[in-house]
Amino acid sequence: SQTVTRGDDGVVEVAGIPVTRLAEEFGTPAYILDEDDFRTRARAWRTAFGPDADVFYAGKAFLSRAVVRWLDEEGLNLDVCSGGELATALSAGMPAERIAFHGNNKSVEEIRRAVQAGVGRIVLDSFQEIVRVAHTAQSLGKRQKVQIRITVGVEAHTHEFIATAHEDQKFGIPLAGGQAAEAVRRALQLDGLELIGIHSHIGSQIFDMSGFEVAAHRVVGLLRDIRDEHGVELPEIDLGGGLGIAYTSADDPREPHEIAKALTEIVTRECEAARLRTPRISVEPGRAVVGPTAFTLYEVGTVKPLDGLRTYVSVDGGMSDNIRTALYDAQYSVALVSRASDAEPMLARVVGKHCESGDIVVKDAFLPADLAPGDLVAVPATGAYCRSMASNYNHVLRPPVVAVRDGEARVIVRRETEDDLLRLDVG
Ligand code: LLP
Repeated sequence: SQTVTRGDDGVVEVAGIPVTRLAEEFGTPAYILDEDDFRTRARAWRTAFGPDADVFYAGKAFLSRAVVRWLDEEGLNLDVCSGGELATALSAGMPAERIAFHGNNKSVEEIRRAVQAGVGRIVLDSFQEIVRVAHTAQSLGKRQKVQIRITVGVEAHTHEFIATAHEDQKFGIPLAGGQAAEAVRRALQLDGLELIGIHSHIGSQIFDMSGFEVAAHRVVGLLRDIRDEHGVELPEIDLGGGLGIAYTSADDPREPHEIAKALTEIVTRECEAARLRTPRISVEPGRAVVGPTAFTLYEVGTVKPLDGLRTYVSVDGGMSDNIRTALYDAQYSVALVSRASDAEPMLARVVGKHCESGDIVVKDAFLPADLAPGDLVAVPATGAYCRSMASNYNHVLRPPVVAVRDGEARVIVRRETEDDLLRLDVG
């Protein structure tokens, strides 16, 4: 979906720029991010949900100052989950009232900074945090808008590590056993808090809307109980993020307008049944906005055929720039992008340069059998949770993010240098 084409010489171009030129100018590995694609997707979410709902981009997927400015310009809000993300958002000029602050263990200092900055909402994740935020707000002479994150007991059909609404995990306050109702009771009593809504996030890389349906049903049930017990109708409901994208051709994601329509219908229907005014809906897509907008450009270093097995293709990055294959058994595709090839396809595994056999970027891939050192390969759909989860393992330097648009390329996050590494090493 990026503006990717292949020229007559077989060289792939993005936004009108040959990848060979990008490699020359910026080096490899590099994340190449298509700004127009990002803006188009962000706008599609914004338009789909309309003026009566809010779209909070989940910064954990990928955050940089340029991205924050694009989001601001396209009318999206921002979900941050650490002091670092908050600092990035504020330093790029995102208005604080359009920021939501998440996390299951925000420090007192992070809470203080968020309240002081005037963030639009803090999403409370535990009983201790209800008190902590209330006290902090009060000590600053403020009343902080908050939502309470609840777990509705849904099993989202996704990898265990990224499913978040079943009960045996660390996020949120369980609806079960009346715990969420008790959290609401406490929050309503505290002067430092203005409880504006209930939050639910059921997981990530989800295609099936039924989990959201159950979640909305249960969240609205809680809103009804709150009305019955306290006589207040909370004005907002946040259904989190989690909408899946296509990593390979096997995935079939939904469009934002379909998602918006489905979620709005579910909430409206549930509220009508409970005789509640329909609250303002918000969502927090991360991956679905940024995931498809970038690819990672690597140079092939060695090609090692293992007879009867497969060919190991080593690239100049690996698990330090994309941990998702190792961590979630994620599926990616890969293509030769620096030239044409008529060679037969060979079964390959694209691996990195780290000292670890699990350092796999693409587990099973077909690449032309004449693949050779110096060739460039691209792995699509690496915009989300790749740069943001990148590490310095083996003291490998984290790649830059290069934004391309209308034939121009510019670095928005520069490549890490050995000086950067050594600067932290003060022993
Ligand atoms: N809202 C909340 C409260 C979240 O915890 C998350 C993701 C999102 C929104 C955005 O979810 P998205 O739309 O991007 O799926 N590192 C994993 C994904 C972890 C997601 C964590 N929370 C991965 O690489 O698949």
